[in-house]
Amino acid sequence: MQPQTIVILGTGGTIAGRAARAADNIGYTAAELGIEQLVDAIPALVEAGPVITEQVAQIDSKDMSFAVWAQLAGRVQHFLARPEIQGIVITHGTDTLEETAYFLQAICDSAKPVVLTCAMRPATALAPDGPQNLLDAMAVARHPGACGVVAVCAGTVHSALDVQKMHTYQLDAFSSGDAGPLAYVEEGRLRLLRNWPLALEGRSEVAINSIANMNHATDWPWVEIVMSHAGASGAVVQALVAQGVQGLVVAATGNGSVHHALEAALLQAQAAGVQVVRATRCANGRVLSKPGDALADSQGLSPVKARVALMLGLLGR
Ligand code: SIN
Repeated sequence: MQPQTIVILGTGGTIAGRAARAADNIGYTAAELGIEQLVDAIPALVEAGPVITEQVAQIDSKDMSFAVWAQLAGRVQHFLARPEIQGIVITHGTDTLEETAYFLQAICDSAKPVVLTCAMRPATALAPDGPQNLLDAMAVARHPGACGVVAVCAGTVHSALDVQKMHTYQLDAFSSGDAGPLAYVEEGRLRLLRNWPLALEGRSEVAINSIANMNHATDWPWVEIVMSHAGASGAVVQALVAQGVQGLVVAATGNGSVHHALEAALLQAQAAGVQVVRATRCANGRVLSKPGDALADSQGLSPVKARVALMLGLLGR
């Protein structure tokens, strides 16, 4: 028998948010409604087959933590291993969705789909976007052949590698940048534009089990993001190195250029054993490295995803 059950894991976010007035799309509190309430409000969600719901966390995703990531990864691994499970949908806040998506893609090896979805308006809005996004995410999770970690918002499917929040307010808040979207969801049907994401090249060897057993306050490698900008100095880098930072991602200008004062401090940090990676602060494009570049580039990852990659890389050592 084909696996048919979809697991919906709730983590909070605006999709579970509540405002005092229906006309208020911004003055709400995120993460108020439980995943069961969200699912019960959309009867069509369960029409296509069995659904299991579980509340993994109930947070505004700006407060995402290593402990929640570990919990989420553990539940994803648990359900993916069950033969009756076809795929997983995760409701998540939009603000750090791309980091969670990349984290899960980096550590989960699955031939089944893991679909993150979200909303830009609270559940109490006059015209909330969450229910349609959740329906679309279910359509992706049920699609034959779907696999890997993807994000669904406003009828568009993005791969975990490419997805990035690009707008503070509009419903279609995410983009896949140069890569373009993976698919569109149209009336419950998928229009696939390119292949499903396969396991990440250089996938982290960090076992989910070892992450679950970590002390999340102390055991994660300390990696910070610094930004290159007009008038930058090396002061922040020097202070972080003095405090024992283990990795630094620089959100560089343009094609990976770094203010000379900041660059001098980063090179010093690197010489002292700190791992330094250059990503670009540009929303599109990637750092194209040149022979002789002293700082490694992020292999196309945005600064926040490069930070996750660097943390997992340091953990795997
Ligand atoms: C959040 O990220 O949890 C709040 C904002 C949102 O979901 O749009």
